[in-house]
Amino acid sequence: MTTRSLFPTLLYDDRLLPRGGRAFNARLLRECRQLREDDAAGRGWSATNYPGGFTSYSSASRMHQVSPTFAALEKALSRHVRHYARALEFDLTSRTLAMTDCWVNIMPRGVVHSLHLHPLSTISGTYYVQTPAGCPGLKFEDPRLDRMMAAPPLRRGAARQPWFVLPATTGRVVLFESWLRHEVPPSTVRAERISVSFNYSWF
Ligand code: NI
Repeated sequence: MTTRSLFPTLLYDDRLLPRGGRAFNARLLRECRQLREDDAAGRGWSATNYPGGFTSYSSASRMHQVSPTFAALEKALSRHVRHYARALEFDLTSRTLAMTDCWVNIMPRGVVHSLHLHPLSTISGTYYVQTPAGCPGLKFEDPRLDRMMAAPPLRRGAARQPWFVLPATTGRVVLFESWLRHEVPPSTVRAERISVSFNYSWF
């Protein structure tokens, strides 16, 4: 008898930098906060679409092209993206997997980032700049969930669950395929959870 595990979903996470990460993170943190000060359009968009928080998703979404610090983040990420693409077995002969978007998210208490995916992208991910104790992680949904029409409930503690939550940890990067739905549940802590999210595309 054989029971096979088919169609795995690969999730990647690692520390961004093997060394010097703390100083780099401090620089990035300053720039994230500064961006909120400078980005009036982003504050306006966030008031409607990201209530209580700040995101530069619609206003300053190519930070890697305008800031040397974010360009350094892109450079540091490239090694991780390469490893992940290799694990995914992508054939990228004569193609380049390149960063297309890079934006800042600041979430104080009560802010939520509801379930979504990242259309028109190949690999998406987040780098955690500040993660106060008790702040929410990144919650991924089983991509087959909408097909499990008559599936019985799972035993308590079952290894296969319809959700997986990856804790948010300062200095770490998480990568996933852009079609994988995810959300950030509401933050219950007052201190700000700060992250930089990004997309990569191969076309
Ligand atoms: Ni996302």
